[in-house]
Parts: sequence; C-alpha cells; structure tokens
Amino acid sequence: MPRRTLFRHANLATLRGNSPWGWVADGAMLTDGDTIAWVGADASLPAGAVADAEVDLQGALITPGLVDCHTHLVYGGSRAREFELRLQGASYEQIAQAGGGIRSTVAATRAASDDALFAAARARALALLAEGVTTIEVKSGYGLSAEHEARCLRVARRIGRELPISVRTTCLSAHAVPPEFDGRADDYLAAVIGWLPALQAEGLVDAVDAFCERIAFSPAQTRRVFDAARRLGLPVKLHAEQLSDQGGAALAAEFDALSCDHLEYLSDEGIRAMARAGTIAVLLPGAYYFLRETKLPPVDALRAAGVPIAIATDHNPGSSPTLSPLLMLNMACTLFRLTPEEALRGFTQHAARALGLADRGILAVGQRADLVAWGLDHPNQLAYPFGQRPDARVFIAGQEFIA
Ligand code: NIG
Ligand code: FE
Repeated sequence: MPRRTLFRHANLATLRGNSPWGWVADGAMLTDGDTIAWVGADASLPAGAVADAEVDLQGALITPGLVDCHTHLVYGGSRAREFELRLQGASYEQIAQAGGGIRSTVAATRAASDDALFAAARARALALLAEGVTTIEVKSGYGLSAEHEARCLRVARRIGRELPISVRTTCLSAHAVPPEFDGRADDYLAAVIGWLPALQAEGLVDAVDAFCERIAFSPAQTRRVFDAARRLGLPVKLHAEQLSDQGGAALAAEFDALSCDHLEYLSDEGIRAMARAGTIAVLLPGAYYFLRETKLPPVDALRAAGVPIAIATDHNPGSSPTLSPLLMLNMACTLFRLTPEEALRGFTQHAARALGLADRGILAVGQRADLVAWGLDHPNQLAYPFGQRPDARVFIAGQEFIA
C-alpha cells in the first residue's frame, strides 16, 4: 500500500467531540503512513491533499478500528463440559471451588505446546480482526507459574509480531491460586511478586491485573500485587465487583487504575473513587450473559458521575467464549441499556483509554490510521443485528488487512 492514501466518499463516524457519532456525511480521509493526516467533508478537501493512491469507498461507513481492551486470548482446552454442568444447576462459583473453572484451563494450558497455544490464539485474534478489531489486550492468567505465565505472554507478543493487529499485554498472574499453592494464596502472591520483574524486563508486561473476588483474591491481597506493580512503574487494572462487592474498584482507583472491569456489584463509593481517579469502567456483557447474572452494572450512576464506559469481549473459555465484538455492542445495548453510540464509543475511544493509549479510538488528525470501512449506511446498524457479520474492510496503521 502506498504511503499516502486518500479515502473518499465515505460516511464517517469519527467519534471526535460530542456531536452525535462525530458524524461527517460524504467525508474523506487522508492517511500518511500509519497516521491520519486529514479528515473532514469531501467537499472541503484541500487542493494540496495529494496522495499516492485513492480509495473510493462508495458510501461505506468508516469508524475507528475497534479496540478489544479485555481478553484472555491465550489458553488451552475448552470448558464446554462446565457449561453443561452449569445447565444442570452448578454455579460458576461452585465449579471453581470444586477445582474446575480457571484451574481446569490452567491444566490444559500448561499441557499445550507453545505452538499449539499460538495457533489457537492466532485464530481467535483473526476472528476478532474480521469483525473490525485492530487493537487487543491479552491477559495472562492461565499459566500461573513463572514459566507458564511467561510462555503465555510470549505467545501474546508473537501475535502482535505475526499479525498486524496491535497487542497490549497484561499480567494477570493473580487470577487464581494454582494447585501447587493450594491453601497458600499469600505464598503464591509472594511468588507472583517475585517473578513480575523478570516478566517486565523481558518486555512482556504493559499492565498488571488481578481478580479481586470471594473465589479469588481479597482486597488486601490485591493491594500487595498493586504495590508491587507500582514499585515497577506498571499501571494496574482490576477484575472488580463481578460476583460480589469487595470494594475492589475503590482500591484500584487508589492506585490510579487504568480500568476496573465487570463491575456488576459496584457501589456508589466505588463509582466516586473511579470518577476521581479517571479510571475507565469496562463492562463485559458477554460474561454477564453467559453466567446468567441478574445484577446489572450501575450504568446510570456511572453516566451521572462522568465515568467513561468501555465495552470488551472478555474472551475466555469460562465466562465469555465469544469472539464477536459486534455481538457485544448489541448486548451492551439490549442488556445494559447503553445507546448504540455509547456502545461504539465504548469499543473504540474509551477502550483505548482503558489501555492507556492516546493515539487511537477516534478518527482525527494525528491518530493512528486504524479504521474499518463497513458495508453499512449508519453506525447504529453496528449494534442492531446480532449473529451477523457485515462486510468490513479493516485498515491497520494505514494498510488494508487482507486475510
Ligand atoms: O474475566 N473473572 C475472572 N476471569 C475471567 C473468567 C475466567 C475463567 O472462568 O476462566 C473473566 O470473566
Ligand atoms: Fe476477564
């Protein structure tokens, strides 16, 4: 693809500013290398906007590339059997307490070769890409030892090297207590805190996450992990208030967390703390749906407090085995009552902030040229159908991705 490309005759949902969708009818966009150089109405294209190539999009809809800011993409095995058990009445927490759940995926992940983990994760990343995802966050958390956490994070990095998609890695070693540390959660966390510097030194960690929950780690234990992250200068995120209110969001906000994720049981105090800290609320409708949760995240209160809401797939084998960002947009609307525009902003603009990325998420001069040209008339058609995939041409850093 040439260096400067002029995209013409597209309707643009730039998401810039507060006007609805940042809408520009019959718009044009000039990209220079991996960056957006000009964006606006086709009619006001400056005469000097010369390009090496022109793409006539014939009325297609352009949005920023989608940012999936919460995934557990690297793992072995499947949890279909647990799905059956849950249908027979077992709860997610009961299965976890009986040694299934995350631990069963840990066993399958440890047993898988690097190449098998990579092949599976690559296929998942490609499925996300086909629906417009140009940046993904990938968490560890199914290795749960120095060796296997490093292996999983290396696989995540390899996806970023071998596919054009951007990958941000998050160390979620504090996801569950592995069997060899049974009943010794504090000792396990001491081990995690011990291996974190080596993972960081190898360039494998962009952020640190933990699972703060009755069936995982307490707030006091989470604080130890966050203290360690802070000593290393790493930003934190948290799986918070998914199944109960542990006060995790307020704790994470105390550490200026990039995001708190799940949040069904988030309290008013947690919301105030997140608003003060500028922490993004990442809502995960796939996990809410698949676990048949009934307590809704406090969307109105988040809105009222001005806490930006992001949406992600939370792709993982236990609570959200989906690879469809568009289904998540639909569910964010149907289940959580977001507007279609809030849902799209949640999967682009606010998701980028949840990863600490200021260079993407809207279509504006100086932003990365990550964009999707959809065969749709209007962006409200992204969240409306479900189980369908519209035509999508995906451009990453100015280059079209051809599968
Ligand atoms: O984001 N909440 C914790 N972690 C994952 C699920 C992990 C699993 O069940 O394998 C989540 O929902
Ligand atoms: Fe998760």
